Amino acid sequence: MAHYEGVIDRYREYLPVTDATPNVAMGEGNTPLVKSQSIGPELGCDLYFKLEGMNPTGSFKDRGMCMAVAKALEDGKSRLMCASTGNTSASASAYAARYGMEAIVLVPAGEIALGKLAQAMVYGARVLAVRGNFDDALEIVLRATTEMDIALVNSVNPYRLQGQKTAAFEIVDELGDAPHMLCIPVGNAGNITAYWWGFKEYWEAELSKTLPRMMGFQAEGASPIVQGKRVKNPETIATAIRIGNPANWENAEDARDASKGAISAVTDAEIIDTYLRLARDEGIFCEPASAASVAGLIKIASQGEDVAGQTIVCVITGNGLKDPSTAESTAHVELEYVEPKYDTVMGLLTNGSGRGR
Ligand code: F0G
Repeated sequence: MAHYEGVIDRYREYLPVTDATPNVAMGEGNTPLVKSQSIGPELGCDLYFKLEGMNPTGSFKDRGMCMAVAKALEDGKSRLMCASTGNTSASASAYAARYGMEAIVLVPAGEIALGKLAQAMVYGARVLAVRGNFDDALEIVLRATTEMDIALVNSVNPYRLQGQKTAAFEIVDELGDAPHMLCIPVGNAGNITAYWWGFKEYWEAELSKTLPRMMGFQAEGASPIVQGKRVKNPETIATAIRIGNPANWENAEDARDASKGAISAVTDAEIIDTYLRLARDEGIFCEPASAASVAGLIKIASQGEDVAGQTIVCVITGNGLKDPSTAESTAHVELEYVEPKYDTVMGLLTNGSGRGR
């Protein structure tokens, strides 16, 4: 079997690389497509989870970041910058560290999961905590990167989406065709765009026979595309997708319309129910935003969308370890403190009914 260092060398012929583009890689891509054991059988469909939390920094962002960083290096840049709800900043910081660049990341103060903040700090980025939301931060970054010689690595950078489309290639390569439906969380709307481009490109190259319906899901309190208007103060427990004015808004609508798909909303309660169910019934610990894809599928199926017999892929965009606070506050598991004595532990196990579920 061929050894690939990452998505650039694996999918080189489909990416905008030249002989001058460095192979920026740390093992991104090639993520598992795991079959559902509980939710899929219950819905009567062939459901798969694309585990993007297995990427080197724990989210799908690495697929596009390696591409964006490769092009920035090719272009002679030594600094990069992004606004982020956390995962983009973690990824940008990691690649900057590995390739000797300076990373400047703007994150919404108090609204980024602890693990993501930890990543940016440990990778050595300069972290600006903006007293505002993601949309405010992005506006500043867009302007700063046009006025200064700093590479912009948000998903408005076209190379990001080029890298991210490789996830669609992997799904088709593995399933032998596109699924009937792709379910995916939508925040800044880059990833739904990238997947659609990837599926289309493979279909045009006759590497797949069909195209999937693109089913995007926003959190209800941060659902500008669903509402058809900008949300000024987006709110959701899924901080990764707490965005009121997505940069790739029109591209996401194109993906939705051209694929005969839909973009709809799920509530925080539905997100958390599914987040816990994924962990407890499927063994998959994802971050809340990622659970939106599966929560959305369950919701549309309950509303009469016919999913029976279909092949469906839900994109699990990020690793649950990134957000320990949400885990702790939603799992409702009380620790059972116990003296370090065999008899006490045995007493608990033989008398207790078992707690935690
Ligand atoms: N899931 C996770 C875990 C994310 O971090 C994001 C976006 C999304 C889904 C939505 O993807 O923006 O392409 O529609 N996170 C960005 C960030 C905004 O800054 O890390 P999208």
